[in-house]
Amino acid sequence: MEEKKWWKESVVYQIYPRSFMDSNGDGIGDLNGITNKLDYLKDLGVDVIWISPVYESPNDDNGYDISDYKAIMKEFGTMEDFDRLLSEAHKRNLKIVMDLVFNHTSDEHPWFVESRKSLDNPYRDYYIWKNPKEGKEPNNWGSWFSGSAWEYSEETDMYYLHIFSKKQPDLNWENDKVREELYRIIDWWCKKGVDGFRMDVINFISKVQSFPDGQKEKGQLYGDKIPYIANGPRVHEFLQEMNEKVLSKYDLITVGETTHVTPEDAKQYAGFDTQELNMVFQFEHMTLDFGELGKWSDKKIPFVPLKKILSKWQYELEGCGWNSLYWENHDQPRIVSRLGDDSLKYRDLSSKMLGTCLLMMKGTPYIYQGQELGMTNMEFKSMEDFRDLEILNAYNEFVDNKLAEPEEMIRYFNLKGRDNARTPMQWDDSENAGFTKGTPWIKVNPNYTYINANSQINDSNSVYSYYKELIRLRKEIEALVYGTYALLEENHESLYIYTRTLGSTSLLIICNFTETEKSYTIPKEYEEAKVIINNYRDRANDNMLRPYEAIVYHKK
Ligand code: NOJ
Repeated sequence: MEEKKWWKESVVYQIYPRSFMDSNGDGIGDLNGITNKLDYLKDLGVDVIWISPVYESPNDDNGYDISDYKAIMKEFGTMEDFDRLLSEAHKRNLKIVMDLVFNHTSDEHPWFVESRKSLDNPYRDYYIWKNPKEGKEPNNWGSWFSGSAWEYSEETDMYYLHIFSKKQPDLNWENDKVREELYRIIDWWCKKGVDGFRMDVINFISKVQSFPDGQKEKGQLYGDKIPYIANGPRVHEFLQEMNEKVLSKYDLITVGETTHVTPEDAKQYAGFDTQELNMVFQFEHMTLDFGELGKWSDKKIPFVPLKKILSKWQYELEGCGWNSLYWENHDQPRIVSRLGDDSLKYRDLSSKMLGTCLLMMKGTPYIYQGQELGMTNMEFKSMEDFRDLEILNAYNEFVDNKLAEPEEMIRYFNLKGRDNARTPMQWDDSENAGFTKGTPWIKVNPNYTYINANSQINDSNSVYSYYKELIRLRKEIEALVYGTYALLEENHESLYIYTRTLGSTSLLIICNFTETEKSYTIPKEYEEAKVIINNYRDRANDNMLRPYEAIVYHKK
């Protein structure tokens, strides 16, 4: 069996602090709100809490634009509040993972404020500056959040690179001083006692230094920058250096956010013997419903390709690297609305089925706040309801350039927009779902009256209790952590069936992804196996799967 590690045996819960729990009535979630809810998380059974950025930030991108890596955002509280959160978490044996945003800073970070001043400023080379090309942007790259990836700066008549918003200038990792500063920041947080890091777009830190134009497809406004920024020439060198200089000195959990990676890349980023990170978040399964306008599409995730992609990751990393498992995070719509059925009839069942499918796989599971309640997408009626800069910018870009009609964009935002994940956590059926006594910064999903934590924690048949049981099973059965994965019935159009095997123990997991009954005869060797969890609670017929049924057999 492969080496045992605590981070392989853990379940992680992600908190988006702005939307989790507001303790002081200003309508914005905060650190004390999180501390007040630690017992809830302990009861759920998770081991690690990843908190999206809480550092000082002008909040152009809700904290993913950091202006001081060693201070807490005022709206979220103080450093004393953070220290209390950390110690209260540790008292309960819960670990805390910080979100490190190191590809870029805020344009209000003192380094950038200095950098933009003059060519000979000591901080000039902390960022990526280029001369205009024929009086325009240095190349044809587009920013992730619409517009060019280059912003003109009058002071020196040059452009700086920003892969994300213009308030998120990219750091120049080629500069040794930048890397040293960043490693010192990691060390500072480690000394405080944090238990790990999620690293934002970490595979974008090394750019191809010639900064060439990207290939431009017909109808596209910008060239494709990805080949020049993702998995760049020095990225592994940088991560190995970071590991050697700081990460390896502590016992941490580290996960890199990496879009555009293949399992081959992941084996390097998160191989058992490559000394970089513990695991990465890959996005192949999350881009299956992309269309001509990228994520702004009403395409559904196709089922057989979904199984093939998830299985590919399971097979390829077996024995040599570790997977992270997720359906949701603060950038994704709610999974029950995206891949399940959020109607009154099937919301519960399909949420539980999706939870089963994910949590029984091999890897470290990440549960996003509210996923354990079966929280759904919200209906945003007009542009005024949205808060996310990605949405606001995309609306202008696509509508202004006549690439889409306004109503069409609003429809796509409702299906795929990030604000779906950012509506406040639904704690109870009191006003504002118990999230705040003030006015919430973003609307609360009106379904909080019947989807909320309070109504679920003591109901043994709730989505919450079901997740709790899934987590408990992972603790009880070693094969659910270390067992190898195998997909059965690869081309079945409705059922996701796989096994996990460790020595003589094996598990058979069957999930019906549709609202129709499907017949399926379980393999002979499982006939005597015990059913350890079933979202209908009364396994009726071994040859039939009911709508959205999920069932797990355990054979010792
Ligand atoms: C990925 C983060 O998850 C997302 O929320 C953010 O907008 C970008 N990186 C930029 O930091």
